Amino acid sequence: MSFDFFAPCPRGLEAALAAELAETAQRRLPPGALQVGAEVPGGVHFRGSWAGGIAANLHSRIASRVLLKIAQRPYRSEQDIYALAREQQWEKWFSANETIRIDITAIKSPLRSLEFATLRVKDAICDRMRDKAGARPSVDTAYPDVRVFAFLTANECTLYLDTSGEPLFKRGWRLDKGAAPLRENLAAGILRLTGWTPGTPLYDPMCGSGTFLAEAAQVALDIAPGLDRRFGFESLKQADMAAWRHLKSEANTARNLAQSKTGDLLIYGSDISDVMLEKARANFKRAGFGSVTLKQLDARNMTPPSAAPGILVANPPYGERIEVRGRNARGEARPTARERRGDEDGASSEGFRRAKDEAPDAEFFQAFGDTLKQRFTGWRAFVLTSDRKLPGQLRLREAAKTPLYNGALECRLFRFDLIAGSVRQRPAGGGANPAAGNDDAG
Ligand SMILES: C[S@@+](CC[C@H](N)C(=O)[O-])C[C@H]1O[C@@H](n2cnc3c(N)ncnc32)[C@H](O)[C@@H]1O
Repeated sequence: MSFDFFAPCPRGLEAALAAELAETAQRRLPPGALQVGAEVPGGVHFRGSWAGGIAANLHSRIASRVLLKIAQRPYRSEQDIYALAREQQWEKWFSANETIRIDITAIKSPLRSLEFATLRVKDAICDRMRDKAGARPSVDTAYPDVRVFAFLTANECTLYLDTSGEPLFKRGWRLDKGAAPLRENLAAGILRLTGWTPGTPLYDPMCGSGTFLAEAAQVALDIAPGLDRRFGFESLKQADMAAWRHLKSEANTARNLAQSKTGDLLIYGSDISDVMLEKARANFKRAGFGSVTLKQLDARNMTPPSAAPGILVANPPYGERIEVRGRNARGEARPTARERRGDEDGASSEGFRRAKDEAPDAEFFQAFGDTLKQRFTGWRAFVLTSDRKLPGQLRLREAAKTPLYNGALECRLFRFDLIAGSVRQRPAGGGANPAAGNDDAG
């Protein structure tokens, strides 16, 4: 049996996700089990069997979720949406004992209240279940067993069952978050855009809780990102649990095989804050990435961690003074504004938002740029930031820039090629270079 799936992802990573899904289809599955379809802003369609949907959940590092299409029809009112949801055979997917949550996303929908539309989908499912199963499921917005998504365009409503449950960027290994951790799927997508492959040195000189490094280590150690977590499809009656057991056992074998190989991963991180490094170490230990090398260091003083050149990737702090994240004169780690507020989860959408009265530390970026130019010949550096003026501050000319979204925040992934004798420099404070407007990350 074949289904239509949709895998949402951070905007800007659609092509990377499509390529990753195509690789998953080739490496792990029988022909036709996962056929990659159209890329649309914010995700990729694919068609396939349960095995395909499950493999995407287990192996995708870039998707946020895997949604299974249940129905699609034109609509004009909330009543049309109610009718569409009421017709679906929900009782074949879950029982009335399970809890549900409904979410609606809309683009150009004429409806006045999405909240009301959400309620109508919930009513329709409950009415259907009461009719067919004699009882209705309750709603649990925090920890639902089953999630239903409705996607509304100007005139079409699509209903999906979520096969992922918790979003896929929750890999299950992170307990200690940093102040502004990147989402794992954004970090994994960026790694793919850098062209990094295992065996090439990888260095993050502002690694924080180590998201880039952890994602790279998982690739190097062939650890399927979903191996240590649960999925929404486990609560769905029709899910092919035999396929799940098979895919999981294959993924476990691959991990055991890769972990039995010794050798340096050539994955390195440093950060000025030893508090952050402790968090990274604790996370890595829990996840079994022992051989990632971490060092406490100011990025202005960094030196290449390997003899051979490689790829440097970083998302520097933005909007808070650089030294705020280091240590004060007495050597105590100072909390960031966000740490003081205890706001850990908003990081991905707010991570770099600039506080009005705080200028980014221009001096720091100038010194960081100088260090790149002087010491990192032969390396390629990728820097994710929402500050479009970053190349000017580094006094480096970007070789490419890729627009990406960190939650709602529009960012750029700048690429700098630090080639001997030909580092393209730009004067401090120089504006954007129209000639360098290559939007490929390639
Ligand atoms: C936006 S966070 C990076 C988050 C990281 N990518 C993660 O996923 O956890 C920026 C990091 O830069 C570090 N940092 C700030 N100033 C620094 C400096 N001068 N040298 C090295 N690291 C610095 C901070 O401690 C923080 O961990």
